[in-house]
Parts: sequence; C-alpha cells; structure tokens
Amino acid sequence: MLLEVKNLHKIYKNGTHALKGVSFKVKEGEFLVIIGLSGSGKSTLLRCINRLIEPTTGKIIFNGKDVTHVRGEELRDLKRQIGMVFQQFNLIKRRSVLTNVITGKLGSLGTFESIFEKFSDDVYEKAHSCLETVGISEKAKMRADSLSGGQQQRVAIARSLMQNPKLLLADEPVASLDPATSNSVMQYFEKINKEFGTTVVCNLHFLSLVRKYASRVIALKAGEIIYEGSPHEISEEWFRTIYGEEAEEVEIR
Ligand SMILES: Nc1ncnc2c1ncn2[C@@H]1O[C@H](COP(=O)(O)OP(=O)(O)OP(=O)(O)O)[C@@H](O)[C@H]1O
Ligand SMILES: [Mg+2]
Repeated sequence: MLLEVKNLHKIYKNGTHALKGVSFKVKEGEFLVIIGLSGSGKSTLLRCINRLIEPTTGKIIFNGKDVTHVRGEELRDLKRQIGMVFQQFNLIKRRSVLTNVITGKLGSLGTFESIFEKFSDDVYEKAHSCLETVGISEKAKMRADSLSGGQQQRVAIARSLMQNPKLLLADEPVASLDPATSNSVMQYFEKINKEFGTTVVCNLHFLSLVRKYASRVIALKAGEIIYEGSPHEISEEWFRTIYGEEAEEVEIR
C-alpha cells in the first residue's frame, strides 16, 4: 500500500467542515481519480495529502509511515516524494521552460546553485529528460508564458517529475484546457503511470476522461466518500447520486 488515508477530517478556520471522515487506500501503480461536485472537498483532500494544509484529525500513512504531522526535514522528504500539478500550471512566467523544470528540484539544490542558476550537468540532463517524457524538449529555451496552455501544463508535469516522485497528485489538471488538449495532457499522466509505475491521484470533472484514464474512482459528496469502485460501474443512477438529480453528462473526447 502506498497511501492510506484514515478517517480524515478538515475543518477550516471559518468553520467549514470540508472533509468528514474520509478513508481510503491507494496501491502502488494505481491511477485513482477523485470526482464530485464543486465544493465536495476534492482539492482539500489533495492538499491534506501533500501537507499544503493541515488536516484537523485523522491519519495519512505514506509508504508505511505516519506522515500526518511530520515537520522539518521529514516534511521536506515527504514533499520530494509527492509531485503536484495544479489547474493553473503555476509556472514562473518570465523564466525559461528549462528553469521552470529545474525549480522542481530546488528543494534539494544548494542556495548558490539556486540563486545564480548554475546547475550541474546532472541537473540539466535530468530536466531535459523530464521534458522529453512530456514531448517538449525542443521548447526548453522558450519563455514559459510563450507556450500554449497544454504545453505549459506539460512543463508543470515535467517539473513535478524532477524528484522522481512516488506519487503524483493532480488537482483538475485539464480544467483550463480545451477537450482535445485535455486528452493529450491526460495521455502524459497515463504514460508516466504506465512507464515509470508512478502512482497517480487526480481530480477530474469530465466523466468521459475518468472512464478513459482511471483504474479506480472515488466520489466525494459534501466531504464524504459516496462511491468507490471501477470507472465503468458508474451508472446513470450513480451519476445522479454523485452530481445531483438535475445533472446531465457532457461528453468530452
Ligand atoms: N481556505 C479555505 N477556507 C475556508 N473554507 C474553504 C477553504 N478552501 C476550501 N474551503 C471550503 O471547503 C469546501 C471544499 O472545498 P474544495 O476546494 O476542497 O472543493 P472542491 O471539490 O475542490 O471544489 P472545486 O471542484 O470547485 O474545485 C468548500 O465548501 C469550500 O468553500
Ligand atoms: Mg478544487
């Protein structure tokens, strides 16, 4: 088991109870997709797993170790093992693609290297190979903000690969992209999952993408898990339970 989430609760300072006793396990090599309406707690869950926010109660076991409250060097070590990709790419706009990818490793580089952007050959080689994985090594010298949305997201994926993460978290990674580009970006997650065996946990909106890429699905509703199973078993009835009676499925191919 790579990840175990046990009875996780998150109550924000303003009193919002965003996660209400969420428990699940993720095996190494899985491609788990989390679905649910806006506000159901998907981002909160991912942020608790990589400790961008502190869960209120409950446990997170990563790779056999309780990491719920680790700090300092142990927390940095955890963050090195968990890559994260966001909806809005979060690149440094004015910097080159290559520099952006290298910042995925800054936590483990010296201050001198980071400030003067003098990196060792190993670091450059690794960055190029990460860019190759997502098929855009030829863009290495371009400014990040000169790339299309889909290309920027591929740079963000390459950046997350710099540390050889065991787990890749993605929070609505294709929500800002058009359907065709969404599919092509999802294919890189699939490739990384299959070729490197990297476990992926990803929030997605479109069920057609969920069916195509997920090996397993969890649905959240108001902070609780209401469905867990294969993406192909989500019937019309389940769909309405998850998204509400009025919901209609929109196709994206
Ligand atoms: N920093 C915060 N402070 C207070 N409440 C928050 C905070 N972040 C999220 N929430 C609330 O927690 C609940 C879950 O939010 P979350 O962002 O996890 O949902 P989500 O499923 O990711 O939604 P979306 O699909 O819109 O991204 C919502 O009610 C939201 O308003
Ligand atoms: Mg969200």
